[in-house]
Amino acid sequence: MKENCIIYGGAGFIGSHIAEDLLEKGLNVTIFDKQNTSKKNIQHLTDKIDFIEGDFINEVDIQKSLKGADYVVHLVSSTLPASSNLNPVYDAESNLISSLNLFDECVKNKIKKVIFISSGGTVYGNPVKLPIKETHPTEPMSSYGIIKLTIEKYLGLYKNLNGLDYRVLRFSNPFGERQNPLLSQGLIAHLLYKIKHDEPLEIWGNGKIIRDYFYIKDGARSVYKAITDRSHNTIYNISSGKGLSINQILDKFKRVLKLDFEVKYTATRRFDVKSNILDNSLARKVLKWSPEYEFNDALKNTWRYILDSE
Ligand SMILES: NC(=O)c1ccc[n+]([C@@H]2O[C@H](COP(=O)([O-])OP(=O)(O)OC[C@H]3O[C@@H](n4cnc5c(N)ncnc54)[C@H](O)[C@@H]3O)[C@@H](O)[C@H]2O)c1
Repeated sequence: MKENCIIYGGAGFIGSHIAEDLLEKGLNVTIFDKQNTSKKNIQHLTDKIDFIEGDFINEVDIQKSLKGADYVVHLVSSTLPASSNLNPVYDAESNLISSLNLFDECVKNKIKKVIFISSGGTVYGNPVKLPIKETHPTEPMSSYGIIKLTIEKYLGLYKNLNGLDYRVLRFSNPFGERQNPLLSQGLIAHLLYKIKHDEPLEIWGNGKIIRDYFYIKDGARSVYKAITDRSHNTIYNISSGKGLSINQILDKFKRVLKLDFEVKYTATRRFDVKSNILDNSLARKVLKWSPEYEFNDALKNTWRYILDSE
């Protein structure tokens, strides 16, 4: 019999790709997302999935949604790294408390495993050693990172107290089709969108900040690997394992996509770590997961998507 997976926040960028992949792997997929959220990202999946409209912070909505589920993928976040520092109380209330409520319900409903997409870009803070392994010290510089890390810790507690199995996937910087270009989180989509609209590119700092960008279709495949993982590991970095500076990305826009644009450098943001490259060797070894797409091909797919969308 097919197993059932519910994806909280599944109508978003990452969730829509995970839904596609889990359907391909033969699972029944339910997406739980806000009532008034855009369904654009999942319109091509509507015949194949169940959709539950609900609010993640509403306990009753969560209680109702979990019936019959085997696996849970948790992707809901009400904040971004930048916005989280403006109101840590809201961050904790909307993200941490609601997550704990979800985990309580997961225990009651005997969920087989929770997959939590955490943030490899924020939980470690400024790296002591690169590339960053899962065992690297964690010193988040934003409320967002603190909350992600705290949710991870609570998952550990729930496993010890209640036997709730889980895996944490610490994503570095995913990019690809359906990433919202108007948010501050997806640099590549954001810059390409600006280029499409002939607007100058505003870069915080001198463009030397290094990030580890990976294609979302590769990231999405790691979720099924985590669901079927029988090892004792609970936390995996999911990344390309390679760093690119913003200036190198701009260079790729010119050389690979043949684009022309204006760049304006502005002040650095205080919570941006200088460099973030995640060591993905544990996921390669244990999950038998590795990125398959070439960066340049993924970049071309992303640009094509942005050109075709409104
Ligand atoms: N995009 C990245 O670079 C990145 C990197 C690492 C981790 N993450 C994490 O992965 C998760 C998904 O990121 P994304 O880029 O797909 O974001 P997204 O904004 O595209 O998707 C999040 C989804 O959650 C839904 N949602 C938000 N609040 C809700 C609520 N109260 N009730 C029901 N649904 C709600 C939104 O409607 C949206 O569809 C987030 O938790 C994010 O912090 C993202």
